[in-house]
Amino acid sequence: MAEKRIHNQWSSRLAFMLAAIGSAVGLGNIWKFPYITGEHGGGAFVLVYLVCVALIGIPVMMAEIMLGRRGRANPINTLRTLAQEEGRSPLWAGVGWLGVFAGFIILSFYSVVAGWALAYIIEAMMGHFQGLSGETSGKLFGALTGSPERLLFWHSLFMLMTMVVVARGVRSGLERLVTWLMPLLFVLLAVLVGYAMAAGDFSRGFHYLFDVNFSEVFYRCSPEGQCTFTAEPVLVALGHAFFTLSLGMGAIMVYGSYMPKEASIAGSTLMIAVADTLVALMAGLAIFPLVFAEGLQPGAGPGLVFVTLPIAFGNMPGGQLVGTLFFLLLVFAAWSSSISLVEPAVAFLTENEHLTRPRAAGLIGITAWVLGIGSVLSFNLWSGEEYQVFGKTLFDIKDYLASNIMLPLGGLFIALFAGWALTRRSAEEELAMRSPGLFGKWYFVIRYIAPAGITLVFLNATGLI
Ligand code: PHE
Repeated sequence: MAEKRIHNQWSSRLAFMLAAIGSAVGLGNIWKFPYITGEHGGGAFVLVYLVCVALIGIPVMMAEIMLGRRGRANPINTLRTLAQEEGRSPLWAGVGWLGVFAGFIILSFYSVVAGWALAYIIEAMMGHFQGLSGETSGKLFGALTGSPERLLFWHSLFMLMTMVVVARGVRSGLERLVTWLMPLLFVLLAVLVGYAMAAGDFSRGFHYLFDVNFSEVFYRCSPEGQCTFTAEPVLVALGHAFFTLSLGMGAIMVYGSYMPKEASIAGSTLMIAVADTLVALMAGLAIFPLVFAEGLQPGAGPGLVFVTLPIAFGNMPGGQLVGTLFFLLLVFAAWSSSISLVEPAVAFLTENEHLTRPRAAGLIGITAWVLGIGSVLSFNLWSGEEYQVFGKTLFDIKDYLASNIMLPLGGLFIALFAGWALTRRSAEEELAMRSPGLFGKWYFVIRYIAPAGITLVFLNATGLI
């Protein structure tokens, strides 16, 4: 029997928007975007990422919210019931399962990075950033990641924080808190961009982010000077578009299922995507000028932000306070994202297995915490080559698998479901767009452009075409 239960509903469109922005804006924008941009050579990568957000991310987000609101249940049930209503195979529910698994994998490394931010609140407060240089900042970060005990402690604390909120339900105080914390994060990022202008090599950082030089991004050169074309950066950019917008795994779908009927899906989506992109670009503008001024490597990897920004805090007036506040806000941004990572699984366990929310939260938290131990050890005991596959640690592998494979794959199926399994009438009715022309454009993109784009990138990156 298909089950349709309204488990919960946001009190207003604003509540939905705040939760969705809370989900989207997180470590992806401030930690991951700068470091993968640095690893992939700058401007051309940024451009590809922006194109992926506009052409694939936004239409897929509309599809996810639309499906969620129509199904009014967790993603697994939503896809199953909608498929049945349209006379399609119940196997579509598998896409929901894929998302639940992706959520676990992401949380198991997300929590470790959020743990770094927690640890850095204390470092900032204690004044440990005072007078840092590129080298000493690297040492400070290395001392944290080199210690399995410290990482495990912060990872455990963050996981606990996440599960406490998850246990209390979607209308918890966190959403209200995020209402005024997110604008504050924005202001603080603006302060940091200002500092980068004054003290960093702003022009070089700016050009690095926005000058498009495709040859640097798409050609890999061997030490002998032999260069070959690679489409892998496109896959990473596409994967990041999904990651940063919380797409492809049902998080936004389940948030959409709590959305009031009368709210506009297209308008909300646009605002979420714009806010998310702005935060990422500002983080880039704050970080790269300092990277160049301090002689750091843009491609330094996951530690980039944690090594760069403390230098700014350690040398600016009032840096102790600004630094503490920054990492505090980063933790809040990560917190409101991590609760959305497990919401599909929680909704499934409460609706289908009739677990209470605290029980579901406990079960999920313990599983993700155990999986996270592998991410903790990737930076110390298991960082050696004997523990790596293709030069990647377990942490890297989990990120790669979830962000670059599972999320785009989930997005592909969501686009196919919205564009082909659902009838045009159902989609049009649920989206209820004011302009029929605009609906036609969305429909075309979700039927053809998004699926073809994702498939091409997959095939190309794996070397098949
Ligand atoms: N969008 C979040 C971020 O940028 C991460 C996330 C991914 C959250 C997928 C939910 C689902 O940090």
